[in-house]
Amino acid sequence: MVMVSDTGSEKRGDVVPTRIAPPSVRRHAGVPRAGACETVIRAQHVTIRYGDFAAVGDVTLDIPDRRVTAIIGPSGCGKSTFLRAMNRMNDFIPTMSLSGSLTYRGEDIYGPRCDAVDLRRRIGMVFQKPNPFPKTIFKNVAWGAAINGYRGDLHVLVERALRRAALWDEVKDKLNQSAFALSGGQQQRLCIARAIALQPDVLLMDEPCSALDPIATARIEDLIGELKAHYTVVLVTHNMQQAARVSDLTAFMYMGELVEFDATDTIFTKPNEQRTQDYITGRFG
Ligand SMILES: Nc1ncnc2c1ncn2[C@@H]1O[C@H](COP(=O)(O)OP(=O)(O)OP(=O)(O)O)[C@@H](O)[C@H]1O
Ligand SMILES: [Mg+2]
Repeated sequence: MVMVSDTGSEKRGDVVPTRIAPPSVRRHAGVPRAGACETVIRAQHVTIRYGDFAAVGDVTLDIPDRRVTAIIGPSGCGKSTFLRAMNRMNDFIPTMSLSGSLTYRGEDIYGPRCDAVDLRRRIGMVFQKPNPFPKTIFKNVAWGAAINGYRGDLHVLVERALRRAALWDEVKDKLNQSAFALSGGQQQRLCIARAIALQPDVLLMDEPCSALDPIATARIEDLIGELKAHYTVVLVTHNMQQAARVSDLTAFMYMGELVEFDATDTIFTKPNEQRTQDYITGRFG
């Protein structure tokens, strides 16, 4: 068990060996089996508390490489808490503590050897509301690489990131304009480009379309489908149609618990759990 104290330093109780690959908890129907589909993030019995309150309770699941994994569930069920734990964004909340084991490619995310800053470069995050910096479009994308001492050509990096985020054609002639001059949907793609420019391995997205209109949402959804060729994507969404459209796997959480995790088709057509059935048919939430 790994406890993260108020200061983010670790206290170890029963240490869960994270370098020994444990057996998969559940096979994902319709998804390539182990070997063809490597696990990138592995959660084992993860419980996350704010003070005494357990926002996430005993969650065990494997996030596979180069797939889109959606996390759905009613408001307050712990989706964002769980997502933020994956790149230690929760470290900034003083009352937060985590127990269980959470690993990234076999490394203990909450272990003493994990550098949280480097982890966040490899596991990037896109938030609900686009949050560009008050800088030019170019500087928004180049910023992370520049402060990390990137030695390559920043212009090449920025163009590649903007192309991958499906924004290049719309902004190539105004790279020196303020990012705030872009529409909400463009700003969100800019934030995705900013995350991509850091050359991450995983992209965490917390309701990335909730502030966008249907056209901008469709563009981001198309983009997510393209991004999984290069990145592992974990997507929190309230929009069940979106989860069904863009994800390969879906995890349904309810009151902090992982109720069911399976291939998206299975979750939306023949779930195993009555609570999943009730949620996807709109009986609660
Ligand atoms: N910083 C915090 N301090 C204390 N409690 C918190 C904090 N953040 C979240 N919580 C509580 O933890 C629970 C899970 O919150 P979380 O934000 O993870 O839910 P969510 O599933 O993402 O909800 P939503 O769909 O509304 O975004 C909620 O009961 C919430 O009130
Ligand atoms: Mg949330």
